[in-house]
Amino acid sequence: MTKILGISGSLRTRSFNTALLRATVAHLPDGSELEIGSIEGIPLYDGDLEEADGVPDAVQRLKARISRSDGLLLVTPEYNNSMPGVLKNAVDWLSRPPQDISTVFRGRPVAVIGASPGGFGTILAQNAWLPVLRTLGMRPWFGGRLQVSRAHKVFDDSGTLVDEGVRTQLDAYVKGFIDFVRSAPSPSRPSL
Ligand code: FNR
Repeated sequence: MTKILGISGSLRTRSFNTALLRATVAHLPDGSELEIGSIEGIPLYDGDLEEADGVPDAVQRLKARISRSDGLLLVTPEYNNSMPGVLKNAVDWLSRPPQDISTVFRGRPVAVIGASPGGFGTILAQNAWLPVLRTLGMRPWFGGRLQVSRAHKVFDDSGTLVDEGVRTQLDAYVKGFIDFVRSAPSPSRPSL
């Protein structure tokens, strides 16, 4: 079974990005599964807090879930032409302590998609993640792109993906990413 962990970078109940993540489940090829992770409950990174109490439980749990997955799917909103602070903050916590980066991130296949009501579908946020993924030593998939623009027309009020064209794109994207994950060397890492 190929296991993907997906994380939406929005805390909003009616988030388009969380809706996109949920919609992905319907497009998984046989023999693969998507677990939905969450950045809820992760505090703002504070070195004093880390020194006093260590890495918070919500972060530790998410680190363990990522390290058990075969690949990570980041679904990123775009804020001010870059990634949202809440998701970057979560990734910053997830990279602590630095000696755990090899278990959580290094060599792990990753794909970045996103949705925006605007016309460019998070292209700049997706690009903004690249130096972060590089720093963490991840293995990004560049075989496809999914930038969902005009998200308010693509999802209905209940968050269902109703745009046939985007469904077709998502289908091809997910299949391409799963193929990539399956062909990636499986790193042997100690579990957290
Ligand atoms: C935005 N939004 C936005 N959209 C975009 O395409 N490019 C951008 O640069 C920005 N900038 C931006 C800044 C801030 C502070 C906010 C709050 C919003 C709009 C954004 O795409 C929209 O709010 C999405 O709905 C956010 O994603 P979720 O919460 O729906 O997943």
